[in-house]
Amino acid sequence: MYQEVKLAEQIYYVGVNDRRTQLFENLWPLDRGMAYNSYLIVDEKITLIDTVEICYIDKFLSKIRSVIGDKKIDYLVINHIEPDHSGALEIITNLYPDIKLVGNSKTKPMLDGFFGVDNRFVEIDEGDTLELGKLKLNFHLIPMVHWPETMVSYQPETKILFSGDAFGSFGTLDGAIFDDECDFNYFKDEMRRYYSNIVGKYGSPVQKALNKLSGLEIKMIAATHGPILRSNIAEVLKLYDIWSKYEEEEKGVVVAFASMYGHTEEMADVIARELALNGIKNIRMYDVSKTHASYIISDIFKYKGLILGSPTYTNNLHPNMDALVNKLNNMSVKNHVLGIFGSFSWAGKAVKQITALAEKLNWEIVGESVEVKHALTEDKFEACRRLGKAMAERILG
Ligand code: FEO
Repeated sequence: MYQEVKLAEQIYYVGVNDRRTQLFENLWPLDRGMAYNSYLIVDEKITLIDTVEICYIDKFLSKIRSVIGDKKIDYLVINHIEPDHSGALEIITNLYPDIKLVGNSKTKPMLDGFFGVDNRFVEIDEGDTLELGKLKLNFHLIPMVHWPETMVSYQPETKILFSGDAFGSFGTLDGAIFDDECDFNYFKDEMRRYYSNIVGKYGSPVQKALNKLSGLEIKMIAATHGPILRSNIAEVLKLYDIWSKYEEEEKGVVVAFASMYGHTEEMADVIARELALNGIKNIRMYDVSKTHASYIISDIFKYKGLILGSPTYTNNLHPNMDALVNKLNNMSVKNHVLGIFGSFSWAGKAVKQITALAEKLNWEIVGESVEVKHALTEDKFEACRRLGKAMAERILG
């Protein structure tokens, strides 16, 4: 049974919730699950916008059939072909053999590669329109938000933007499908964690997309993940602007450390205490061996200040700090200020390695980096205090 969910007259939500998968992309923890959103426009031409993860094909088909019965689907608009949205494509095209697949020039080779060459493809380009009857769809290409073929479909009569991954979030839709049916704050952290880890590398393409979409009057954003936005659109657009420029959402500092026997952690505690004594209210302390990097990266996108600490391990960083540092480097996170500390037992390398990250990413190094041999001494204790104070002053200006 399907409890009908309408975005507008003729436009239906037919998405599914995934409460079973542990890791999205086999990488990112799904503590709150994941929603794969798909939409159906019932007009002279019946149009499906994106599909869902293959595991949920039964629920998906059941919802579609509840809306259109035995009628055929005329178009499948592929805003984004990543398999979390195209998983059901092959079954849909088999069930509806006359269906036309709508995408752009970057979609076609991916469609051919994933599913085999398909002569039902209709290629659209920037600004093209697809007439459906009373309603129509206008297409805008937003490459790299999140893949090169990514585009959005704008429905001008209802002013609904079908936005693909853009403005999506981790988290299932638990009864509330629209943002004003729930406490939207519940989704904001998961929206940032989704943005920063999935799209965060592509700040410049996101800026281009925001610029392109700024010419549209948008009353609703229907993304492929997360709640449908109709009451928090301005706030979400503002957040996307901040995140894609790598600017701070609030004043604060992330302290992330690795520690084997507690000496590096002791340094982190001294530094954090000094941050607090010097006025930093938002201090987010993470042991990288305990907290998955996606949560740490999300807070790194939220706050400008970052302090990283690690022991030297086999002449390198502790492997879990190395993993975080590599992720930040791969994502080319910009516009941060960095404090550095570490410890070693016979040969110090950690501080040097973290310093190299700052140089690669062109981050400002704040204060004097502190590296301890064996256990914390009085002079290094004071050096940690100075580092915390210097970061607080840098953040609070
Ligand atoms: Fe939700 Fe980039 O796929």
